[in-house]
Amino acid sequence: MNVTVIGTGFVGVVSAAVYASLGHQVIGLDVDENKIKMLKQGQVPFYEPDLQELLLEQQKTSQLEFTTSYEEAIGEAEIIIVAVGTPSAPDETADLRYVLASSDSMAPYLQENVIVAIKSTVPPGTLEKVTQTIKKKTQVKFYGASLPEFLREGSAVHDTLHPDRIVIGAEDNFVFEKLEKLHVKLKASIVRCSIPSAQMAKYTANAYLATRITFINEIANLCEKNGANIDEIIQAIGYDKRIGPHYWYPGLGYGGSCFPKDVKELAAYSRSVGEDGNLLNRINEINKARIFRLLDRFEQETGGFESKTIALLGLAFKPNTDDMREAPSTKIIPYLSKQGAKIQSYDPMAKYQNSDGDRHTQVATIETACAGADIIMAVVEWPDIVNFDFSTVKTEQTQFFIDTRNQFSASKIESSGYKYLGVGKK
Ligand SMILES: NC(=O)c1ccc[n+]([C@@H]2O[C@H](COP(=O)([O-])OP(=O)(O)OC[C@H]3O[C@@H](n4cnc5c(N)ncnc54)[C@H](O)[C@@H]3O)[C@@H](O)[C@H]2O)c1
Repeated sequence: MNVTVIGTGFVGVVSAAVYASLGHQVIGLDVDENKIKMLKQGQVPFYEPDLQELLLEQQKTSQLEFTTSYEEAIGEAEIIIVAVGTPSAPDETADLRYVLASSDSMAPYLQENVIVAIKSTVPPGTLEKVTQTIKKKTQVKFYGASLPEFLREGSAVHDTLHPDRIVIGAEDNFVFEKLEKLHVKLKASIVRCSIPSAQMAKYTANAYLATRITFINEIANLCEKNGANIDEIIQAIGYDKRIGPHYWYPGLGYGGSCFPKDVKELAAYSRSVGEDGNLLNRINEINKARIFRLLDRFEQETGGFESKTIALLGLAFKPNTDDMREAPSTKIIPYLSKQGAKIQSYDPMAKYQNSDGDRHTQVATIETACAGADIIMAVVEWPDIVNFDFSTVKTEQTQFFIDTRNQFSASKIESSGYKYLGVGKK
């Protein structure tokens, strides 16, 4: 099938490369000329495991091309997948300007019976706006659909090749059948549903996962008051099949390109339909305060951050990505700087851009980050950080090891001579 993916950001590049690998003829389109130039040369503009190899493979077979021209990308397309960004607007609703701009730009070139499937995360009501925008410029018959994306950064290629499910929101059998055919080689479970259900399913998944993180953080706070250990609690509740052992992350709270914005957008959407005081409206507030509450506790337990040198290990919002969107480090570094600390950071892939007032230097190795440090603060569980032998960098000066995501064995760290501080445990 001829497929065009609009927006070659994170989701767009992964989707385009995977659809090409399934045997479709794919064009990736973006308004960012630099991105398209890099992609044409076979370079992925960000770090994502296995993507570079997949991209090069598909470009070799000419299954996958990139362009900045709507005229070139749209005319032959049978399926158009919109994967442009939907950041939160100042009022916290989803900012649909890129979705509507792409609808406006594609309209003059649409061929009869094309499917316009929105993969970007958007609230119910968006497809109606897309349809109105397109109809202002063309009489051609086209079909709208919702095709939400559930991949995780850091394992995006694997997730897209082996999805838990494909959710298709549509109104016509023709659309369901064609979008199922697009994914048939994946042998995935398909959920056929209405367009608002597909849109809500995406927000529901992310809001639930964000709630789960927030919930366990609230329990961790109680553990710190009563001597219980959050790791033991997670083990105990995990055996309950209704709860499960997976996806418990007590720590600094959720970050990244999706959870903060999706929770905010769903809360804003719920307010717009008169559901003001619901849980969704509290989650983001609790999460925003979370990081500072924990930093405050660590500050007290280490005797203050002023004049201390802190080795901060991990900058990206999670391992296996260089994505810095809403990464905890973007709040920790300004906070520690303000308290008068000096920060030496390390991350295998991500780069931190200093702002005014940041007392921060990024270095190339874990050893250099820890050299001369009073405190080691592990923020992201990159494998090289979690597997590092911290006894090799222990000095008289380095007293404290702060494990912000409970990824290390307290007894092992303490046997190397550090005072260990974790989350939700003494
Ligand atoms: N990143 C994730 O992990 C993830 C996962 C699931 C869903 N999503 C959703 O997918 C969507 C895309 O997210 P992303 O992280 O890939 O965003 P991104 O910011 O990495 O990429 C968006 C791309 O769209 C391009 N663009 C903007 N306006 C355009 C236009 N008019 N025409 C063509 N291209 C245009 C931008 O130049 C950019 O390259 C969002 O709605 C997001 O919520 C993201």
